[in-house]
Amino acid sequence: MDLVLFGPPGAGKGTQAVRLVENLGVPQISTGDLMRAERASGSELGKRFDDYMNKGQLVPDELVVELLTNRLKKDDAAKGAIFDGYPRTVPQAETLDQILSGLNRAVGRVVAIDVALDELIDRIVGRRVLVATGQVFHIRYNPPPAELADKVVQRKDDTEELVRKRYEEYLAKTKPILDFYAKRGLVREVNGVGDLSEVAQRIDAALA
Ligand code: AP5
Repeated sequence: MDLVLFGPPGAGKGTQAVRLVENLGVPQISTGDLMRAERASGSELGKRFDDYMNKGQLVPDELVVELLTNRLKKDDAAKGAIFDGYPRTVPQAETLDQILSGLNRAVGRVVAIDVALDELIDRIVGRRVLVATGQVFHIRYNPPPAELADKVVQRKDDTEELVRKRYEEYLAKTKPILDFYAKRGLVREVNGVGDLSEVAQRIDAALA
């Protein structure tokens, strides 16, 4: 199964992907996480991501595709993947089609998680991440256990100003992808507001 988890920044893609990995038996591929790992490694490629990510802008397509292609070559992605944060532009969606078609695969479903901007800001500004594992928390909605409280950090791009910028990028460049997939009948819209288990149930229903 190749599943695209779609939605604006903070919609809960990463949070829900973790659970789906267990249920579907395929890995989560988050281009945002891959980019943060590349930056942390100090590589030249990682340095090229810095400018865009620090401004809340999308990284140019050609830089993203290289990361994605390399990740898809790993054994654990041989039978499918949960794409989280990819594709972000129509050309990225076209590239994904080409790559998957070369593997005799195709996107099977696009689950679009819908959350309004005010709630996205609240979620993102309150998000905390455990760098060692990538585990995601929220200071109110999903607080880290006491023993991790001083180990979690805030992502650099998790400010209200940058969320607004990222949301603009989403509306202008990413949301149009829904039409691209809707023509093939692949899109299922899911209300992303509610507690984690409610949203999870809606996603499961969208995958049934
Ligand atoms: P990326 O890392 O992909 O970030 P994003 O899409 O902006 O999404 P987020 O990770 O912010 O949100 P999410 O939907 O995963 O929400 P989460 O589950 O964490 O991208 C970052 C940057 O990298 C981009 O700006 C761009 O520069 C670059 N980039 C990445 N991919 C790219 C690409 N393909 N092309 C070009 N550039 C690219 O949840 C958010 C918070 O809400 C958490 O605290 C969580 O605990 C909480 N939460 C989750 N669900 C709920 C709920 N139901 N109720 C209450 N709280 C909830």
